Order: sequence, then C-alpha cells, then structure tokens
Amino acid sequence: MQENKQQYGISQYPDVDLIYQKLDALISQPMRPIRREKLQDMLAYFDHQCNKSRELSDEAKTYIPGGVQHNLAFNYPFPIAIEKADGAYMWDVDGNRYFDFLQAGGPIVLGSNYQPVREKVIDFVNQCGPVTGLFHEYELKLAKLIHHYMPSIEMFRMLGTGTESVMAAIRAARTYTGKKKVIKAGGAYHGWSDSMVYGLHIPGTRRFESKGIPRRATANTQEFYPTDLRMLERKLIMNRLRGGTAAVIVEPVGPESGTRPVPFDYNRKVRELCDEFGVLLIFDEVVMGFRLGMGGAQGYFGVKPDLTIFGKCVTGGYPMAGGVGGCAEIIQRFAPGIGGTGERAYIGGTLSANPLSCVAGYHALLEMERTNAPVIAGRAGDRLTRGLQAIIDKLGLPFVAYNQGSICHLETSGVMLLDLKRPIKLLKELKPRKHMMEEMGAAYMAHGLITLAGSRMYTSMADTDDVIDEALERFEAVLECVEGV
Ligand SMILES: Cc1ncc(COP(=O)(O)O)c(C=O)c1O
Repeated sequence: MQENKQQYGISQYPDVDLIYQKLDALISQPMRPIRREKLQDMLAYFDHQCNKSRELSDEAKTYIPGGVQHNLAFNYPFPIAIEKADGAYMWDVDGNRYFDFLQAGGPIVLGSNYQPVREKVIDFVNQCGPVTGLFHEYELKLAKLIHHYMPSIEMFRMLGTGTESVMAAIRAARTYTGKKKVIKAGGAYHGWSDSMVYGLHIPGTRRFESKGIPRRATANTQEFYPTDLRMLERKLIMNRLRGGTAAVIVEPVGPESGTRPVPFDYNRKVRELCDEFGVLLIFDEVVMGFRLGMGGAQGYFGVKPDLTIFGKCVTGGYPMAGGVGGCAEIIQRFAPGIGGTGERAYIGGTLSANPLSCVAGYHALLEMERTNAPVIAGRAGDRLTRGLQAIIDKLGLPFVAYNQGSICHLETSGVMLLDLKRPIKLLKELKPRKHMMEEMGAAYMAHGLITLAGSRMYTSMADTDDVIDEALERFEAVLECVEGV
C-alpha cells in the first residue's frame, strides 16, 4: 500500500492483488441478483413515479435510435429524463430527486451546475456569444494553466472530445516516430475512433465491437492483458522486427477508470519499457486529469508521459471537452494554418477551443484548485467505499468495493471482469451478468441513487458526510434484497 501526499484525491492506493482475489472469487460463484419479488417492487417505482420520463422516452424511440443519445444513460427499464441538477443531486421530470454519483460520467468534481463557474460562463456568453472562430485570450489562459498544473504539457492543442484527442495523439505519435503500431491495454476505452474500437471492455476481444470498421483500420492496433507487462514487452520486441511501435497508450489507474486496477509501480514500468524501445508513452487522462488532483495521474504517480489526453474535467463539465498536450516538439506537429510543411499532423474542428469551453475550463480548474475539490471529492469516495465495504461485510456478500479517490467501484455481477482467458465462461455468463448489472442500476435508481452503469460512482466536492451517509442507507436497502441475504 502506498501513502500519498494530500494534494491528490487518493489517500491510500488500493491493494490491487487483494482486489483481484476478491473479484476472482466473485466471478467464480453463481450470481447474487436482487430477489425476484423485491425486484418487481423496485421496478414498480418506474411504473408509478416516472410517468413523464416514460412518455418522453417512448416518443424519443421514434426519433432517436434506442430512444436516448448517450451510451451512459440508463435504458433499463427505460431512460429517466433529467430536468434539474444542483450540487450532489439531480431531479427528473417527474420531480423525483436522486443522489448524483454519475457526475456526467466523470467531468464534474465541483458538484453539478456549480454556481461560480456558471456565472463566469453566463457573463462571457452575454459579451461574446459562444463562438467566434478566431483566437481568444482564454485559449492561452487555459493552456498556460494546464502547463502550470502539469509541467509535462509544454504545449496544448484543444479539441472537442476525448475520442478526437486520442486520434490526434496517435497521428502525432506516428508522424513523429515514423512508426505505425499502437499498443493499448485490453479492455480499455479510449474513445470510438476506428483504430481504438479494439479490445473494448473485455481484454482479448480485439474486433468484437468493430462492426463497420474496416480491418485495415485496426491492423496496426494491438492489445496486451492490462496488468501483464511481460506481454507488453513481447509485443514491443515483435514490433521492433516489423517496423516498430509508435506509441503505448494507457489509462494510468487501469482500464475503464480502474475497473481493472493496476499496481502502483505499473506506470513507471510502462515508461521504462517505452524508453527502452524508443516508443512514445500516451497517458489517457480523460477521467484522471484533475479528478485525481490538479497534477493528474502523472503527478500522482510521478511518471512523465510524452503525450497526455484530456477530456471531461478540462472544461468543468461544459461542452467541447478534449485536448492533447505534451512535449512541444511533438505537439508542434499540430500547428494550424493554411498549407502544410509535409511534417504536419492534420487535425481540426470548427468548435474546438471555442471561447465558451475555454472560459468554463479555466474557471473550473481555478475553482478546483482554490477549493481543493479533488481531495474533498476523494475523501467522499473513501467514506462511500468504507461504508459499502461495511454493508458487504455485514450482509456476508461476495461483492467487491474499492476506490481510487473519487472513483468508486462496486462490483456485484463482475461482468466487467470476465475475459477471454475463460472463453466458455465468457460466452455463457456475459449476458446474464450484464443484465444483473442493469438490474442493480435500476434498483439503485429506484432508491434515488444514480450510478454509472450500476457499478461505478464518481463523487464530487458536493458530497458532504451527510450526503454520503444518507446514500449509504439507500445502498444498504438495495443490498439487503440480494438473493441469499
Ligand atoms: C479513458 C477515456 N478515454 C477516452 C474517452 C472518450 O472521451 P469522449 O467521450 O470525450 O470522446 C473516455 C470517455 O469516457 C474515457 O473514459
């Protein structure tokens, strides 16, 4: 276990071996879903108290594929339409209040709809509107601020999303190194660009999700089992004989925000391997950047990547959240303007780095530093996880709770931990375990708790001890209804 200085939201790095032992035990035994009769009671909540949401989502199915635009929206039993967000809570169109542990999927650390940032944005829009297409001082202010917090970001090019930023980083890495192969950790999500929809969610699954993507687009993408650095090394050796590797891209706490956690010294070892093979190291800090602390995962782990991907927090929850930064010599390849020099890595985006996003990001980051939000949110994550562990112990459940600061995991079905090392188990159990996760999400929702896909909770500065304690009572009410309790 690793103690860390308190400017970061992780007070104690989790014992990764112990977590894997518990997760292995969880998926080795039969599922423990909510008891059927209790689940019926919980689903009745949606029938009786979510009528407007149901009407809206029924109509939306005519105009929107699947009835909802966002992958993280709950679909089971049907999507809930949100009307208001404030601090630790959200309210749906039927007036029901929820504890918001989604935090928009990670961008929000100050709490939802944080007033001081909102006011700056409104003032700015009143004066300038959302976009001009020309340079604005806030582009510079934001880039300088990011450099101040993360010195490895000598230069920063802002983009619209994490997905675009990963695409851009890979393009820059290939331009700079003259090599093609890119290696990612299996199971990791780095956005949905053609080359990165490979080995998604479940390690070893390569092109399982690559419908509509030509084979050639993923021909230079490779994956390694997330904690298996020997496998990464073998890939680097093989690639050296076949034209070389441009970059290794990792999420520094492990794929899917640490759903498959990695040991504390992992990033240092990946860095060493990259140096040994002359390969660029890309940190995907879309979630970690500023959530773990103002220095990001690279500050927390003390490892300097060549390129860093930003998203989510970089605009404090306001739209067009993305960017890639790092070593000036590499980022220079993005220099805009008309006419290339032959060394340019072409990227663009009409609304990228629009002044509204830059203003929002600049003030959100300053507020996060001023209020110490990442550390406060991390303490809330610790309290939530400790409380969940106590409930699990009390009820004698095989479920697994752990956190990396304000990123809290509660694995009940274990679906995210299935893998191709046990293919028959994967084929047999993927669907039922996935459905159990959906049921858990719906059960939490019926108790006023919004989680990410029924297995992850992001905490924010708005999560006071009272908020967390009340939320824990609700989690307990759900977990008491699990089969066998
Ligand atoms: C680690 C990671 N990388 C990249 C992305 C893609 O970012 P975006 O959704 O902004 O395209 C995400 C989104 O959740 C992410 O979690």
